[in-house]
Amino acid sequence: MQEISSLSAMRAWTRAEKARGRRIGFVPTMGFLHEGHLRLVDRARELADRVVLSVFVNPLQFGPQEDFSRYPRDLDRDRRLAHARSVDCLFAPERSAMYPADPIARVAAGPMADVLEGKIRPGHFSGVLTVVAKLFHVVEPDVALFGRKDFQQAMLVQRLVRDLDFPLEIEVAPTVRELDGLALSSRNTYLSPDERRSALALSRALRAVEQAWRGGQAEAAALQKKGMETLAAPGVQPEYVALVDEAMQPVERVTAKTIVAVAARVGATRLIDNVVLGEGIAADPAVRA
Ligand code: PAF
Repeated sequence: MQEISSLSAMRAWTRAEKARGRRIGFVPTMGFLHEGHLRLVDRARELADRVVLSVFVNPLQFGPQEDFSRYPRDLDRDRRLAHARSVDCLFAPERSAMYPADPIARVAAGPMADVLEGKIRPGHFSGVLTVVAKLFHVVEPDVALFGRKDFQQAMLVQRLVRDLDFPLEIEVAPTVRELDGLALSSRNTYLSPDERRSALALSRALRAVEQAWRGGQAEAAALQKKGMETLAAPGVQPEYVALVDEAMQPVERVTAKTIVAVAARVGATRLIDNVVLGEGIAADPAVRA
């Protein structure tokens, strides 16, 4: 596995591979890899000849009161996991390489970024789209992969690519869950055993909404109430249960394409999860709780 930290070396690596006719798949991450990231690597391998994985904790997407400084980091561990999953190139730039000066030019994310996560984390998606645009310029992939767990991010990246004509495809891969339903996230590492148990309220809330919908309830308000009641479990501070379409617009009556998104604080940790109603939640037997 090649390891690169300079932007010019990264671009040169991709261009050399492309000159040999190879297609580049790209998995951008903030590190502290888990099986969800590694499934994206597997999928990238199916879609491309070479796989680049980036590890960069992007300061631009964290608010002043958020967990940038304590976000989990372990590059040795990431290196081992990426190597074991046959990543071809690990791109781990320093902050000084990505942002030699505070950027004055940023991607404005628009109204789709002002709801749900964007409402609670102002500026977050502008920070995400700015770093994603920079990474796309540097890595020059043919296809980039994002996890469905961060569905608002994935939808906004799709719009970024379409609106600014980046010459690449975006693939959104399913959320990977532990056997008991907890969606994998690097932030799960913050949870104590008790908090981890409490955190199951998020997937339980999604299931409760799904079951009520399958039972014939199609009114978004009633489903939202059901979701909030389930989310409000001991140790959990619910933030939202939202029923929206792909453009993040709230719906009144739901369909098989409606997305149910939930967010809550468990102790000091903010967690999010979502499901497309028609698809449901499946625990992944390959991942142990
Ligand atoms: O999803 C993440 O890990 C980050 O938001 C991303 C896409 C790597 C940008 O920093």
